Order: sequence, then C-alpha cells, then structure tokens
Amino acid sequence: MQQNLYDNETFFNQYRELRENPASYNVLLEQPALHRMLPPLAGKQVLDLGCGFGDGCVGYLALGAAHVTGIDLSQNMIEAAQKKNPRAEITYICMDMTKIEDLQETFDVIISSLAIHYIRDFQGLADSVFRCLKPGGKFVFSQEHPLTTACSSYGNWQRDETGKCIYYKLDGYCRPGKRTVTWMDCTVQKYHRTFSQIISQLLCAGFQVEAMQEPVPTQENIRQVPRMYREYDKPSFLLLRAGKPAENMK
Ligand SMILES: C[S@@+](CC[C@H](N)C(=O)[O-])C[C@H]1O[C@@H](n2cnc3c(N)ncnc32)[C@H](O)[C@@H]1O
Repeated sequence: MQQNLYDNETFFNQYRELRENPASYNVLLEQPALHRMLPPLAGKQVLDLGCGFGDGCVGYLALGAAHVTGIDLSQNMIEAAQKKNPRAEITYICMDMTKIEDLQETFDVIISSLAIHYIRDFQGLADSVFRCLKPGGKFVFSQEHPLTTACSSYGNWQRDETGKCIYYKLDGYCRPGKRTVTWMDCTVQKYHRTFSQIISQLLCAGFQVEAMQEPVPTQENIRQVPRMYREYDKPSFLLLRAGKPAENMK
C-alpha cells in the first residue's frame, strides 16, 4: 500500500500554505516548465496523476482539453479539489496511480506534477501509463530532481561563514531505492532513481523520450526569491515528455 501522507492533517495544511504562496518554486519554476512540455491539448482526454488541489486540471481545461480526469491517493486532496476547482469537464477520483488500468479508459495525454517520486515501482507505472495511452499519446511529468531524491535529507548544502550555500553535498546517487526524509516537520517516504534508470524504464515500456528539462530561474525569479540562485548549482526539478508511437511497434 502506498503512503497516504497528504491525509495527515498537519502535513496537508502546511502543504496547502506552501502551494498558495505565489512565489513558490512550483509557481515560478516547475509549472511554467511543465506547461512548456505539453503537447497541444485542444479536444484531448487528459489524465492527471496525483492531481492535488486540481489546479493543474483546471489549467489543462483552459488549454482546450475536452475532459480531465484528476486522480489522487489522498481523500483530503480530492475533497479539496472538488471544493476549490469543481468543473463539469473534470472528474476527480480518489485512487492510487499505480492502479490506473482499473479505469479501463485510454487517454491522449497523461500528466503528473511532482508526484512520481512517491512511487516505488517506476517501471510498473511506466508500463501502465503506456497501456492507458492512445497510440500517439504523450506522458509528461515533473518530479524531484534525481540529485535531490538521492540524498537522505533535504538541504544538503555546504555553507560558508556568511551562511551562503557554496556547494551541494551529494550522496547515495548510485544507490536507488527508498528515502525517508523530514519535510515540513513530517516524515516523508519517496523513491530515488538515477537518470539512466528513469530513461531506460521509459524506453523499456515502449516510449520514445522526446524532451527533457531541468528548469533554472530567470533574474526576475531570483529577485523575487533570492535563494533560487542555488538552482544554478543543483536543479530542483526534472521534467520529461515521452511519446507512445502512433503505431504500437512493441
Ligand atoms: C507534491 S503533491 C503535487 C500535487 C499537484 N500535482 C500539484 O502540482 O499541485 C503530490 C500529490 O501526489 C499524490 N500522490 C502521492 N502518491 C500517489 C499515488 N500513489 N497515487 C495517486 N496520487 C498520489 C499526493 O496525495 C499529492 O496530492
């Protein structure tokens, strides 16, 4: 059974506060990068894995999607999404993304924002996503960067005497597997995979890897959030777009 961290009231409330901050890393870096990776959504059937508050689902409708199914493991999240972002063209379902084949539907585009590092078996997920996509469909996702998931704690920075971060202390990169870290005073379980594992497992599922990004901030972003200069030393996010061939050659 997957961890249901976002049903922990304390964590959920702190996470909500973080996501409501207009100067968060999500708003300034990850979301714009994710939107740059999306294929045209006009008239498409979209599935959002780990939809959270449903903000992404509403954004995909605004880009022309015909219908969005937003799924999330957390009942708290699904209830919040139904309250915050109700739309006739969005269906919210509380379920585990590793079980998407139970939906017995196929989609044009499957998107996931910052949820995949919670999944233990990425190969199993990539195989399921491939089967749930129509031929020619796209899988677009962001996750914590492997240089972040590798470490056994957040904030692995060496600082100088003034407190300025001078380099990132990487450890465990070639030891994939479970990491238990503290984030917002809660214990979080996530999974580290190396770049080569992520790419190999997508290829093994039958995908063509089409695009990849490690977004860095603009000068304006750094002016808004000065600590973002650190992204030039160690990026926080990895984004990938993978395509299912129009004719399934697998
Ligand atoms: C960091 S939040 C991101 C939420 C949303 N995508 C966003 O960008 O605002 C991660 C979300 O993934 C969900 N999640 C984690 N594991 C999941 C799983 N196995 N199946 C479905 N959702 C999952 C969590 O409940 C949480 O809502």
